[in-house]
Amino acid sequence: MIDIKDIVVRFEDHLVLDGLSLHVPKGSAVVILGRSGVGKSVLLKSIVGLLRPEKGSIRVMGQEVIGMKPSQLNKLRKHFGYVFQYAALFDSMTVRENLEFPLRRHSNLSEDEITARVEELLKLVDLLDAIDKMPGELSGGMKKRIGLARAIIPQPDIVLYDEPTAGLDPVTAREISKLIHDLERRFGTTSITVTHDLECAHIIADRICILHDRRIVEEGTFDEMLKSEYPLTRAFFQPETV
Ligand SMILES: Nc1ncnc2c1ncn2[C@@H]1O[C@H](COP(=O)(O)OP(=O)(O)O)[C@@H](O)[C@H]1O
Ligand SMILES: [Mg+2]
Repeated sequence: MIDIKDIVVRFEDHLVLDGLSLHVPKGSAVVILGRSGVGKSVLLKSIVGLLRPEKGSIRVMGQEVIGMKPSQLNKLRKHFGYVFQYAALFDSMTVRENLEFPLRRHSNLSEDEITARVEELLKLVDLLDAIDKMPGELSGGMKKRIGLARAIIPQPDIVLYDEPTAGLDPVTAREISKLIHDLERRFGTTSITVTHDLECAHIIADRICILHDRRIVEEGTFDEMLKSEYPLTRAFFQPETV
């Protein structure tokens, strides 16, 4: 579904990604684990063409993203749902309007179908009661759940989650991770989640990739990572040993 080969991303003289490769099979949930500032958001932005690597290749559903024309990029982006690091809801719209927005943009559903889809998704994230509220009236965890609902409501083929549990308390973080996992299962989407939350990675990931030193340095299942000898992987998975 996504095939990244040897990409290089640099901001002036600051080399952020260098020779990063990543393969994401259709229907799988890949979690990229890495420390703050390592380039996780830069990687996600490169995949949807918001940033342009100077070298390498990013193929999404068989199409090369690097150097793609804006009109083609817009088309390709319809296959993506993007959950931003900071809940990016429209503050002047109700929850209902926030969820209707991507449907009106990306689909030809009738008004009745739109209403039904919005209510279905709100039930799934257990926030039907909040349908007429404004984002300002919601807690951080509720906003995250609405953000998830909004990203997946057009039923995208691929969902990118940027630190979906950042800034949440551990209990809410766990609920959000489980919700992502359930939604992934239900809709059979392909996903990439970037995080430094190990529990989130455990709940969501089919495979975990460690981003360190500008590239993916290790890849495997959660259980394989637990046995890793690689220093940064051990710092995440066996902190008592480092
Ligand atoms: N648009 C930009 N211009 C210049 N530097 C950037 C830009 N975006 C990200 N960076 C730098 O790239 C590095 C990685 O950033 P980022 O991907 O946001 O990290 P994180 O892994 O925490 O998501 C950081 O040092 C950041 O300052
Ligand atoms: Mg980030």
